[in-house]
Amino acid sequence: MSLLSIHDLVAEFDSPSGIARAVDGVSFDAQPGEIFGIVGESGCGKSATCRAILRLFGGAPARIAGGRILLDGVGDLAALHERQLAQVRGRDVAFIFQDPLTALNPTMKIGRQITEVIRRHQTITRAKARAAALQLLRDVHVTSPERRLDSYPHELSGGLRQRVVIAMALALRPRLIIADEPTTALDVTVQDQILRLLKERRDRLGTSIILITHDLGVVSQICDRMAVMYAGRVVETGPVREVLDSPSHPYTQALLAALPGQVGREQALTPIEGAPPSLISPPPGCRFAPRCKLAQPDCVIGPPPPLHARDGVSSGHVDACILNEVAYGPA
Ligand SMILES: Nc1ncnc2c1ncn2[C@@H]1O[C@H](COP(=O)(O)OP(=O)(O)O)[C@@H](O)[C@H]1O
Ligand SMILES: [Mg+2]
Repeated sequence: MSLLSIHDLVAEFDSPSGIARAVDGVSFDAQPGEIFGIVGESGCGKSATCRAILRLFGGAPARIAGGRILLDGVGDLAALHERQLAQVRGRDVAFIFQDPLTALNPTMKIGRQITEVIRRHQTITRAKARAAALQLLRDVHVTSPERRLDSYPHELSGGLRQRVVIAMALALRPRLIIADEPTTALDVTVQDQILRLLKERRDRLGTSIILITHDLGVVSQICDRMAVMYAGRVVETGPVREVLDSPSHPYTQALLAALPGQVGREQALTPIEGAPPSLISPPPGCRFAPRCKLAQPDCVIGPPPPLHARDGVSSGHVDACILNEVAYGPA
């Protein structure tokens, strides 16, 4: 049974130039204890997908316009009222943003911020909540945790701030953590420590994690399964080893070819020319076709192609390239 199962999710943003369908028919699921990676270039709808799960659009004029978000034991998050969803946030599903500063209140001490998360969902004394906050800081390997409780966010380094944000995310022992580029703003060593921290949590408590990143190296390192997003859609998904070792969608292949310092890769890296399309009026057919070296006339006709499996392959490795559909037959 999936912990989270997303079906045909559609999410839209209003913008001065029209409606941007940032998420356009996205489906995937996260199993208990699994780390699921979502990759793709900037502007492909990765954040919008994850924000839609908890309806955390940060005040932007955005909405879920279709689809279902089934959370085991809770039901369809897309159908919940805001008040019911507020109960799910933090308790069942926690969110870690890219920039830890946006998640922290600059005028409040760290200890108070963590205890408020705890006390919002549990009736416990201030002293007990403070003890719990201290333990959480220890769990995320913050040094001198007692002192940090009385620090303000600006007194901490970026790496420490992200640890605090993770401590807040872990506070209520959620079953699922959604982390949106949690290490992008951090230097490489700290990145590594933060990723190890998330993995440790999964290994110890079986917490599922959806990890958004534009770094395929990170996916290769800690994810079990992955989805590749392009222009608001999933174009390939499957077990990480299969997708990265034998990518079947030209977009995934291009992403991998553009990756610097790939182990065992002899060719020079080839950046993908051009940029993802606007999501206000995306091109017809396969949205990657205008940048795809393999594109055929059929690729730019009709609706975007759905995901389909390679013949006889049951590992869940599927992609949305019509050239593969011709090669392998429909799913
Ligand atoms: N605050 C916003 N206002 C209007 N449109 C937005 C906003 N945030 C995102 N979008 C639209 O959603 C698209 C996908 O954005 P996003 O999900 O942030 O991409 P990613 O996380 O993959 O970089 C953007 O290209 C843009 O069209
Ligand atoms: Mg993003």
